Amino acid sequence: MSEATWDVQDGAIVERPRNVRKHPLLHRIYERHDALIAEQLPVGRTLEIAFGQHMHPRADVGLEGWPSNVDTVPQPALAGDARALPFADNSFAAVVGRRFLHHVPPADRPEILQETARVLRPGGRVVLLEGTPGLYRKLTKDAAFRLGLLEEDTDIYGHLSADAVIDLVSGPFDVVEKQTLGSPLMLASISESDASARLLDFYERTQFVKWWTFVVGERPESVA
Ligand SMILES: C[S@@+](CC[C@H](N)C(=O)[O-])C[C@H]1O[C@@H](n2cnc3c(N)ncnc32)[C@H](O)[C@@H]1O
Repeated sequence: MSEATWDVQDGAIVERPRNVRKHPLLHRIYERHDALIAEQLPVGRTLEIAFGQHMHPRADVGLEGWPSNVDTVPQPALAGDARALPFADNSFAAVVGRRFLHHVPPADRPEILQETARVLRPGGRVVLLEGTPGLYRKLTKDAAFRLGLLEEDTDIYGHLSADAVIDLVSGPFDVVEKQTLGSPLMLASISESDASARLLDFYERTQFVKWWTFVVGERPESVA
């Protein structure tokens, strides 16, 4: 296999992202997000799209643009493109997607929400978590580059504002939940040191920095 860890396919940035299990604080943040997402999942089959190397424990199946990510998760998974989901209409009760819409060209994002609505049953839910842009993200990223914690910037399309995520979801869905998540500790979350995990309590108490937008949409009876 090629040593490359990312590529552009039809304009989408597909990649092998960070393995969160190697980053103690980040791993705990993902577990926190897993719990938040679980509260929003209806009973029934769940699909996670663009799962990278971490699929939600409640997901029954996953789909990923970078094929070798498929081998990194215990659940069934297949390689594919979220813009053309290889599943029948009404197949799932929930679709989860985290930190990936910013990897897709802006013009293709509504198509992904339409595809998601198509594979969901009426009353089914889409649960999205997306990074927000802003000065704090820019400063954190600049520091990560300077410290050698980040090697390449693959975020070529920039991140989506909370309003942009909500607009996309409210195309085919009714928005039923929205939250801002984050912390001033995001730089520490890239660390591989076990000591970083001790910062989780502080992370929990400092959720006032906009770093992610969490949005849940519910599919109405019929989709336009
Ligand atoms: C920043 S990573 C996030 C991975 C994971 N969701 C997480 O939160 O750790 C973005 C992921 O989206 C995937 N991706 C990008 N475009 C995609 C597409 N059109 N279809 C499926 N996966 C895609 C990439 O391969 C990559 O794994």
